[in-house]
Amino acid sequence: MTDLALDAEALRGRAVASLVTARDRTTLLTGCVDEPDLTAQHSPLMSPLVWDLAHIGNQEEQWLLRAVAGQEAIRPEIDSLYDAFEHPRAERPKLPLLPPDEARRYAADVRGRALDVLESTAFRGTRLTEAGFVFGMIAQHEQQHDETMLITHQLRKGPQALTAPDPDPVPLFTGPSEVLVPGGPFTMGTSAEPWALDNERPAHRREVPPFFIDTTPVTNAAYQAFVEDGGYDDPRWWTARGWAHVRRNSLTAPLFWRRDGRQWLRRRFGVTEVVPPDEPVLHVCWYEADAYARWAGRRLPTEAEWEKAARYDPAGDRSTRYPWGDADPGPEHANLGQRHLRPAPAGSYPAGESPLGVRQLIGDVWEWTASDFLPYPGFRAFPYKEYSEVFFGPGYKVLRGGSFAVDPVACRGTFRNWDLPVRRQIFSGFRTARSEDA
Ligand code: AVJ
Ligand code: FE
Repeated sequence: MTDLALDAEALRGRAVASLVTARDRTTLLTGCVDEPDLTAQHSPLMSPLVWDLAHIGNQEEQWLLRAVAGQEAIRPEIDSLYDAFEHPRAERPKLPLLPPDEARRYAADVRGRALDVLESTAFRGTRLTEAGFVFGMIAQHEQQHDETMLITHQLRKGPQALTAPDPDPVPLFTGPSEVLVPGGPFTMGTSAEPWALDNERPAHRREVPPFFIDTTPVTNAAYQAFVEDGGYDDPRWWTARGWAHVRRNSLTAPLFWRRDGRQWLRRRFGVTEVVPPDEPVLHVCWYEADAYARWAGRRLPTEAEWEKAARYDPAGDRSTRYPWGDADPGPEHANLGQRHLRPAPAGSYPAGESPLGVRQLIGDVWEWTASDFLPYPGFRAFPYKEYSEVFFGPGYKVLRGGSFAVDPVACRGTFRNWDLPVRRQIFSGFRTARSEDA
């Protein structure tokens, strides 16, 4: 075989493996509860699980069967049911959705045909299939909905349906609490990563003044000190909007926390436990992260600061794919892929640290940044503007790094997530920063 044919076979293998991994996870998340649980709405913030399942299949049909292979719609009448823009989540339980067995059969039918399409695709010539992009995009889409379904599981009342081993315990982290990132330009975003999504492109130079950033994400113990210092009752720490939001909604602690005498408990996938002090704080909204940082005399990092801390290698004066270098994530680098159902203790994964010594930038918890979700200079929507473009603007804040619930296929040093500043059912935490002269 020629080198090109070998590359194509390697790409095909990677695409198949990514699709199979995603479907195994979807099957786990939709197979561990009974039928009424699949069609119920566990929170007005979320879709019924059975909606995500058929939406995954419908998105795959639209891109891999219709756009790539030119096939006719299998069931044209269901497209609108599974269009996220036509029906807000709160309305989805009232739609005539496919029942669980039909949704499963539909997704499996699409998958069978998609693998046939993949078998005969040349990964050259069209932008959609170049380097297998659209197959990677669909694997990432399914994994993103798997994370969404895991959030639904966390919101669901009732006994535990999912289990996973806990991350290995580590000695209490005693390294420096912050790291200096030198000032100067670095390369942000990517033009080279084949499966990077449109909002990560193109690579461009950014000037970033020197700043300090936390070595690890903010822990429950640190956040609890803010709570117990009356942080939620003191308007000094909050922006005007944040203050209005905590008052109106009577927020007093992260979502799922409950005070029990002198200790804090939290509910996690159907089990109640004492809040683990050395674990990164989880389920805080942007307003809470921002207020904590102000209370601590610090601030949230900008998105550019976060990415420079994660990718800039001063030795080579270049940006790497991940904090640890260019190798794909392994279990030694980061807590990804729902191997565990919780973040690992602060200071875990020394093999995953950045050249400057920052830990756990990838995996564990999504990290809120100070930045609005905006296009990079030279951005072009591809392949559809409803993935990123319609969300650009001051309404959404950027999160970086991925959580324990993110699969490696949907996680990179350049990957950008975004959400409303009030959202906290997502697997969100944060770390803080300060300017060098502050
Ligand atoms: C990038 C996580 C904000 O879940 O709304 C899924 C990903 N886009 N289907 C979302 C997505 C279309 C998106 N986020
Ligand atoms: Fe979607």
